[in-house]
Amino acid sequence: MKQKKPLLIANWKNQITTITSAEKLFISISKKLGTTTDIETVICPPMIYVGHLGKLVTSRNVVLGTQGLPDVSKSVQTGLITPEMVFNSRARYIILGHSEERVRGITDQQIHDNALGILQQPLIPIICIGETIRDKNHLYYEVIREQIETIVKKFSPEYMSRIVIAYEPIWAIGKNAKRECTPAETMMMIQFIRKTLLDMKYDIKLVQSIPIVFGGSVSPDNAKSYTTIGGADGLLVGRASLDSKTFFSIAKQIFPNKKKNK
Ligand code: PGA
Repeated sequence: MKQKKPLLIANWKNQITTITSAEKLFISISKKLGTTTDIETVICPPMIYVGHLGKLVTSRNVVLGTQGLPDVSKSVQTGLITPEMVFNSRARYIILGHSEERVRGITDQQIHDNALGILQQPLIPIICIGETIRDKNHLYYEVIREQIETIVKKFSPEYMSRIVIAYEPIWAIGKNAKRECTPAETMMMIQFIRKTLLDMKYDIKLVQSIPIVFGGSVSPDNAKSYTTIGGADGLLVGRASLDSKTFFSIAKQIFPNKKKNK
């Protein structure tokens, strides 16, 4: 099977407040990571900066994305952005269903509808799933199963071959995180996600090819453990993506081991 390139996704959330700082950070990351073909870097600024940053994309290795598309309805709408506009502004990925978006009320059904709308363009939805708590009875597995079943239900194999799944345990995200998710916990959940997709009768090769990334307090210290022991195909990074040096240190941790691959 073709080796998947690790994906490194920066989720800037609403933390970059001027276009100048967005541009500076984007250029600095592009300079540092634009020449490496070892990983694919996806930078997801708030929607308002996408048009501008789209003009600064110079490398295939550092791709532009964005965050959240709350409604992709086809009717004429005031205040909404369509997937087509996002694509035409040169973004290629969209983070969907982030837990912070779920707190604002987006449901799995809406995430499903939005992902479908996005997939009608040559865009890749990064679909976030994750449980709020880890209960003693392991009911959190059922939470994940339900999210997956509702969000990707009846997606064609072609659509499935274009999605990215981000496992983001909510209790491990942000500066109020309870604790870090361990690589072993990550590995078990990633296996469970693939098993759920197999139970939904998707072909095994297709299921193995879907990138599943991990997000939640990723730092230069723990990054490598998630992509090695944890089995993640990449990382979705929040706070640590706001500083180019820190972000680059994370990138270095997940460069594939060339000697081993030769
Ligand atoms: P964090 O955020 O890396 O700051 O925990 C991750 C996320 O919310 O996607």
